[in-house]
Amino acid sequence: MNELPTKRIIEISNVHRIYETQAGAVPALRGVDLIVEKADFVAIMGPSGSGKTTLMNILGCLDRPTFGRYLLAGTDTATLSDNELADLRATSIGFVFQNFNLLARATVLRNVMLPLVYTTCPRAEREERAVTALRAVGLEERFFEHMSNELSGGQMQRVAIARALVNNPELILADEPTGNLDTATGEMVLKTLEILRDQKRTIVLITHDEEVASHADRVLYIRDGLFVNEKYNIRPASGQPASSSTVSGPTASDPTASGPTASGQPASGPTAPLPVCEV
Ligand SMILES: Nc1ncnc2c1ncn2[C@@H]1O[C@H](COP(=O)(O)OP(=O)(O)OP(=O)(O)O)[C@@H](O)[C@H]1O
Ligand SMILES: [Mg+2]
Repeated sequence: MNELPTKRIIEISNVHRIYETQAGAVPALRGVDLIVEKADFVAIMGPSGSGKTTLMNILGCLDRPTFGRYLLAGTDTATLSDNELADLRATSIGFVFQNFNLLARATVLRNVMLPLVYTTCPRAEREERAVTALRAVGLEERFFEHMSNELSGGQMQRVAIARALVNNPELILADEPTGNLDTATGEMVLKTLEILRDQKRTIVLITHDEEVASHADRVLYIRDGLFVNEKYNIRPASGQPASSSTVSGPTASDPTASGPTASGQPASGPTAPLPVCEV
């Protein structure tokens, strides 16, 4: 894994994002605080328009806060140039999107190899790494040379996760990764994310679905650009999500909170071992 050099992967404080539009200023984020430690699995829930994707874009360095501070692995992202941010994205962050964002007329293998083009990975190694990533998400080899638009939704999302993993990123950002999938296929995608969590990768997952959020260790609720509540999922030894066994924490928007958010540590609860797939 391309490990980031600190235990605290994400630390944002008082982050605002105001979109300037012809109709006026739209304050999509209004002072958000969040700490995510290494190997955390955090879900963010909230109604449509509450600021989830805006926040994800900032966390993924695809966008910058209008004001407020974002430390990624201890580095103040405001001090980094666009090129430096692009490098950080390429080596340390994997993205998974609701609509998969695959190149339709490229093969599965080429889609997964694509992020390696922007790195120093030698050409000869790219295919090998793409194959390893595709095996890790359980896609059958007979699909590797298919065009990506010849796959089912679940297969496409597995390819998209393989593409997110091919750089061996420490941080995985997933925006509604199960939003376009049926329940069974969505479960399979979530199992893949759980395996990644058990490999000590750090995951931030956006969802509208409480059931999906129950796979995370911590759920943060956002409304009108502010975190309003937070909940911890205590996972039973069987590895099944336990949505009923939760405890409430302080709101993530309260920077004075001395509870779980401020420390970034889960309240309690062992995580069940799952098979490990190394990429
Ligand atoms: N590029 C943009 N320009 C102007 N306003 C924007 C832009 N992107 C988002 N917004 C506005 O910012 C607010 C938050 O949008 P965002 O996409 O973050 O919401 P969301 O929580 O991801 O919603 P959804 O669940 O529907 O995906 C909304 O009011 C939206 O209209
Ligand atoms: Mg969104």
